Amino acid sequence: MNIAVVGTGYVGLVTGTCLAETGNNVICVDINEEKIKKMQQGEVPIYEPHLDVLFHRNIKAGRLTFTKNLAEAVENAKIIFLALPTPPGEDGSADLSYVLGVANDLGSIIKDYKVIVDKSTVPVGTAEKVHAAVAKNAKCEFDIVSNPEFLREGYAVDDFMKPDRVVVGTTSEKAKNTIEELYKPFVRQGNPIIFMDERSAELTKYAANSFLATKITFMNEIANLCEKLGADVDMVRIGIGSDDRIGKRFLFPGIGYGGSCFPKDVQALAKSADEVGYDFKILDSVMAINEKQKLVIVDKIKKHYNNNLTGKVFALWGLAFKPDTDDIREAPALYIIEELLKAGAAVVTHDPEAMANVKKILGDKITYANDHYEALKGADALVIATEWGLFRTPDFGKIVSLMKSKTIFDGRNLYGIKQMKDLGFYYASIGRETVIF
Ligand SMILES: NC(=O)c1ccc[n+]([C@@H]2O[C@H](COP(=O)([O-])OP(=O)(O)OC[C@H]3O[C@@H](n4cnc5c(N)ncnc54)[C@H](O)[C@@H]3O)[C@@H](O)[C@H]2O)c1
Repeated sequence: MNIAVVGTGYVGLVTGTCLAETGNNVICVDINEEKIKKMQQGEVPIYEPHLDVLFHRNIKAGRLTFTKNLAEAVENAKIIFLALPTPPGEDGSADLSYVLGVANDLGSIIKDYKVIVDKSTVPVGTAEKVHAAVAKNAKCEFDIVSNPEFLREGYAVDDFMKPDRVVVGTTSEKAKNTIEELYKPFVRQGNPIIFMDERSAELTKYAANSFLATKITFMNEIANLCEKLGADVDMVRIGIGSDDRIGKRFLFPGIGYGGSCFPKDVQALAKSADEVGYDFKILDSVMAINEKQKLVIVDKIKKHYNNNLTGKVFALWGLAFKPDTDDIREAPALYIIEELLKAGAAVVTHDPEAMANVKKILGDKITYANDHYEALKGADALVIATEWGLFRTPDFGKIVSLMKSKTIFDGRNLYGIKQMKDLGFYYASIGRETVIF
C-alpha cells in the first residue's frame, strides 16, 4: 500500500519505518527542513534503539522516502497518517493547531479517496473537527480514523511491530477494512485490533496514559509515606506487585513522571473533563503530587546541606526523562538542575544520549562530561535522575577516588541499602532508609 506519514517525530518516523518494513511504500513528510535533509542523507534524527537497522534497510529498498512537500507525499497515498504534535495550550488543553492546520491543507490537496488516520493524541471530538477541516475544501470522498499510538520511547520499534493491541476508531466500513489489512502483519500472534467509534478511541489513549500516571503517582505517595513510617518501598512494591490484580509494572517510585506524553495527557484529560462540567478529582491530585515529587530529591539535598548549596558541585547522572531515549521533554532532571543552579550550586552532567538536546536549552549554564565518571571529578555529591543501564553497576572504587565526598542522592533507587552501608556512603533514595555514615 502507498502511505504518507505527516510529522516525522518519535511517533511518525517509527510508524513510517515499521510500515515500510512490512512492504508498504511510505513517504514521510515534515516541515522541519533540517530533519528532512538529515533523513534524506540517511541519518536517523532521533535516538531510538533498533530503529536505525530498519530505517536504512527500507531506504535502501526504496520503500521509505522523505519530503517537505505535503502534496507530493499524499498524491498517491491510500492512507495518510497524522503524527503531529499536540502540545498543551496555555489552559492545559491539547493544542490542535498542527493537526487542524494540516487537515485544512489536505482538503485542497487530495484528489481521490483517502483514509486519513489520526495517530496524534487528541481530545474526544477531534475526529469530527478534522473531518470538518478537510471537508471545507475537499472535492473527493475521504474517511477519518482515530488510531491512537501506544508505543513507548526506548521500545518504540518493538511496540509498533508487536503491539499489545491496535485501537481503531471509525464508523466507516471501507476505512475499517483498509486499516485491518494494513495492520494484519503486526498482529499475527493474536493480539487484537480493537475497532470502536472515534470518540471512544480518542478517550482510550487519554485513559491509558492517565491511569499509568496515576499508578506511578500512587507509588510515589506510598514511597513518601514509607520514609515517614520507617518502611522500605522496595519491599512494599514487591509485596503488592505479586498480586496479579495489581501487577509488577509501573510500581517503581522515583522523582515523578515526565516525558512528552504523561504530563500533557493528564492535563488535557482534566481539561476535557472540566469542559463538560465533570470534576475529575484524581487527576487534579495526580498533577499536584507529581509537581512536588519532581523536586523531592532537591528537598533532600537542601536538608542535607542545611539549605546552603552555594559553591557546591553536583555530578548529575541522566538527563533524558527515562532511559534509552534522547527525549528531554518534561524531564525531571531539568527541574532538578534549575533548582540547584538557583541555589548557587554548579552541575556537571552526563547522559549517554540526551546531552545534545539539553545543550540546546541550557548551553553553558552546566558542564557536560564525556562519560559518567568524568562528571564525578571533585563533586560534592552525585545525583541520579535517570536509570540508564550503565549507571546500575558502576565501579564504586572509582567513584570514591573521584568524588570529594561519598554522597549520593538517588532519585531512581539504583543501589541496595546494605551495599551503600557496606561501602560507607551517605545515600538518600526514594521511600527507603537514608544511609548515614
Ligand atoms: N512520543 C511518544 O512516545 C508518543 C507516544 C504515543 C503518542 N504520542 C503522540 O503522538 C503525537 C506526536 O508525538 P511525537 O512525540 O512524535 O512528536 P514530535 O514532536 O517528536 O514530532 C512531531 C513532528 O511533526 C512535525 N510537524 C509539525 N508541524 C508539521 C506540519 N505542519 N507538517 C508536517 N510536519 C509537521 C515536527 O517538525 C516534528 O518532526 C503527539 O500527539 C503525541 O502525544 C507520542
